[in-house]
Amino acid sequence: MTAANTRILELRAELDQHNYRYHVLDEPSIPDAEYDRLFRELKELEAAHPDLVTADSPTQRVGNVALTAFSQVRHEIPMLSLGNAFEETDMREFDRRVNEGLDLPVGDLFGGGAAVEYSCEPKLDGLAVSLLYQDGLLVRGATRGDGTTGEDISVNVRTIRNVPLKLHGSGWPATLEVRGEVFMSKAGFERLNEGQMEVGGKTFANPRNAAAGSLRQLDSKITASRPLEFCCYGLGQVSENIAETHIGNLEKLKTWGMPISRELKLAKGIDECLAYYRDIGERRNALAYEIDGVVFKVNSLASQRELGFRAREPRWAIAHKFPAMEELTELLDVEFQVGRTGAVTPVARLKPVKVAGVTVANATLHNMDEVARLGLMIGDTVIIRRAGDVIPQVMQVVTERRPENARPVHIPETCPVCGSHVERTQLVKRSKGKETVSEGAVYRCVGRLACGAQLKQAIIHFVSRRAMDIDGLGEKSVEQLVDEGLVSSPADLYILTPEQIIDLEGFAEVSTRKLLDAIAASKRPTLARFIFALGIPDVGEETAKVLARSLGSLERIMVALPQVLTYLPDIGLEVAYEIHSFFEDPHNRNVIAELLGHGLELQDQGDVHAEFAASTSLAGLIAKLDINSVGPTGAEKLVAKLGSLDKIIAADGIDLRQALAAKQADAVRDYFRDPANAERALKLEQQLQAFGMHWASEKKVVEGLPLAGQTWVLTGSLERMSRDVGKEKLESLGAKVAGSVSAKTHCVVAGPGAGSKLTKANELGIKVLDEDAFIALLEAHGG
Ligand code: IVH
Repeated sequence: MTAANTRILELRAELDQHNYRYHVLDEPSIPDAEYDRLFRELKELEAAHPDLVTADSPTQRVGNVALTAFSQVRHEIPMLSLGNAFEETDMREFDRRVNEGLDLPVGDLFGGGAAVEYSCEPKLDGLAVSLLYQDGLLVRGATRGDGTTGEDISVNVRTIRNVPLKLHGSGWPATLEVRGEVFMSKAGFERLNEGQMEVGGKTFANPRNAAAGSLRQLDSKITASRPLEFCCYGLGQVSENIAETHIGNLEKLKTWGMPISRELKLAKGIDECLAYYRDIGERRNALAYEIDGVVFKVNSLASQRELGFRAREPRWAIAHKFPAMEELTELLDVEFQVGRTGAVTPVARLKPVKVAGVTVANATLHNMDEVARLGLMIGDTVIIRRAGDVIPQVMQVVTERRPENARPVHIPETCPVCGSHVERTQLVKRSKGKETVSEGAVYRCVGRLACGAQLKQAIIHFVSRRAMDIDGLGEKSVEQLVDEGLVSSPADLYILTPEQIIDLEGFAEVSTRKLLDAIAASKRPTLARFIFALGIPDVGEETAKVLARSLGSLERIMVALPQVLTYLPDIGLEVAYEIHSFFEDPHNRNVIAELLGHGLELQDQGDVHAEFAASTSLAGLIAKLDINSVGPTGAEKLVAKLGSLDKIIAADGIDLRQALAAKQADAVRDYFRDPANAERALKLEQQLQAFGMHWASEKKVVEGLPLAGQTWVLTGSLERMSRDVGKEKLESLGAKVAGSVSAKTHCVVAGPGAGSKLTKANELGIKVLDEDAFIALLEAHGG
């Protein structure tokens, strides 16, 4: 055997083992990045030695040439369906029939019945599939079809990551047909739909449809790109018996690499089955995948044989269903709600219908793009879905049932609350110094605080606990204050009189006094709370804190140019423009002036934060101007050669070519030939200097710190320090701490409970430290 062949076999065995640990045992022993490395090595070796590629290699999960049709497969043993139970009484009746069929003494009121052993499994909501293994190799995959004849989807099932292409170990029957469900996790489904939405592709109404649509693809490359999973729940044809019980079979299959349900349990008697049903029902929302019930099977295979079948259902198994999460109902009307930032949102008014035990009469429609995507008309029959605690959603229109008098949905031209004009928002993209404007999905009422709906929401937000924390002012009272014209901006709260409050519904002397005290006590907020309370679109608590901490004063935040704001951690250009235009708006400036006029004193104001000062540099500023083909490196070269912004602006082509390649030099010259650009750059520089930045000193600070220029992310919980402390320590070493993982992240610190950020870091191959390693690193730097 050649060295290449030996290594290929080694790699396959190792990858198979990791796959098994990951998919079946749920105990991965190496990080994903290491797995990817081994996988790449195998792929490269196989590419160099195509003759050594075999069908069972882990690299062969990528799909194959597209088919024109699926061929048919006959199921030697038919694939049956299950009887359903909805109520406890149905289940007790099932158990009684089983006992009777097995000639066991049936219990009476005083007990005495035999306890039949049942296996309990979740009923996954996907589609049934048969996988045929010959001598341990996967040779065929088929859909259930009508139970007797299905479709050959062999190439497609081979792309499913947790379907073993080759069985592990030994001792398996020469012919072994396993049966189970192909499904998509809730997270996989969301991700798929998001991706489809981005590329304008077909979205799916639920994970089941997504799984079916993905598996029955003639082009298996598409299947390979979809997050499908398999879970085995039984056997078909076998050349040899495996175990004496159903659970025995599944456990043996697990040792051969077959994924089985982690929820598989044995119940002794019907009461334990019912307890299992209740337990899974309580955890239904928290499970990673959707289930529509649980399946109980008589565990003893001998008893199963004795009970046999009735028509197309086994007498030894039953599905105990949960309430459905989807129902059909009628769209009576679409109304429009106005939110805090003026967004006018369509809301579906539905003929009330019970979905998973809760009556649903309204559902959000998000925005007009969603209405268009659904092709929704008033009068339509629609599919409503209420997954877990999520707000009910309209998933689909049943176009076949559209009545003749169905009406289209139109966005109103004027605000339903205040009558102001409703405008479509614009999406402004800024790149290469140019702005491109396109239409956004959101419509806004331009009335702002003159619009009752926006005013009410703005005040509810302003007084909320994490904002100004004015206790004692509930939504109802805010509505009354606005409706009676006592308050027309947040500033008016500070001039309310006891007489005005005591007249409100639900107020008496004591509560009036308490509310006035709470209003007075809110007059010394921190700068961060105050910024958050203003309700600037896209500025949550975190961003408000960043603004306050970095810029140190309301004055600076109010005048900061968008490009200056993008120096702050986690503030992108879009949000920067939102912040800037909020403070440019005379109306908002007026409210702020009034608030300060009523005696509000902002706490914690001070200097520009050192971290912010250290993050600015002249080269950074030039890079932010988005001059065609001039990135950070080009900017550095310019600064090194020419020294100051004035000189760069004044430089001619010849000067510039000493620093840059001809194409870049010309781009810089052309850019600054436009006086508006030159002015913008100078204004930026001026503002940064006015904020206390000095180009000469800043470089030293940055370079002096050991983690300068690095972006870190903290996720999960740390046990030996708080995340805030961890963040401060990193920042004091010069690192930037970001809230999300991207290709630019240098390192992720992951504590227990780390979730999607850790997954993403692993996907991107980013260095991950646990708390111990993190502390060791801090200590190494004297932290
Ligand atoms: S046993 C003869 N077990 O439910 C027994 N089915 O209505 C056949 N299903 O077509 C099926 N999870 O697609 C079984 N743990 C489970 C299941 C399960 C989901 C589906 C399967 C089947 C349908 C039966």
